[in-house]
Amino acid sequence: MTTANHFVLSAVINGEQRDFLADERDSLLEALRERAGIRGPKEGCNNGNCGACSVLLDGRLVNSCLVMAAEVQGAEITTIEGIASPEGLDPIQQCFLEEAALQCGICTPGFIVATKALLEENPTPTEEEARFWLAGNLCRCTGYDKIIRAVLKAADQKGS
Ligand code: FES
Ligand code: FES
Repeated sequence: MTTANHFVLSAVINGEQRDFLADERDSLLEALRERAGIRGPKEGCNNGNCGACSVLLDGRLVNSCLVMAAEVQGAEITTIEGIASPEGLDPIQQCFLEEAALQCGICTPGFIVATKALLEENPTPTEEEARFWLAGNLCRCTGYDKIIRAVLKAADQKGS
């Protein structure tokens, strides 16, 4: 149903121009999941504490639950759906699989998007730097070690 609160949100999402109705009260996370049908970003806490909703907004890592949809008019957004290429999985995704760095998977899209941003910013992070960067992403299942192993392996592969 269209109401006075709706507006057309136009943005490039995962490389594709998208124009769809959103509500002025929507967070970016709500607009992506409920209006655009992009369900990779997950709602964990909805208050900026878990990182499950992480996306890249004009190349910058953000918690999409904390960004208003109305703020991203004309922006470029990358979600987990935009990380793999037509040729196959991104090396980060491959390393998460190889290191068994996921269990229930709720946190995984956020971790992978956050890792993408980390390796753009710092292609050769130390373990400490990787743990510090990913401190805003919470995982209830893995105990983090496997995730960090996957992140460092992906960094190694990118560098080699
Ligand atoms: S759902 Fe956005 S940080 Fe938790
Ligand atoms: S794999 Fe379940 S929360 Fe991380």
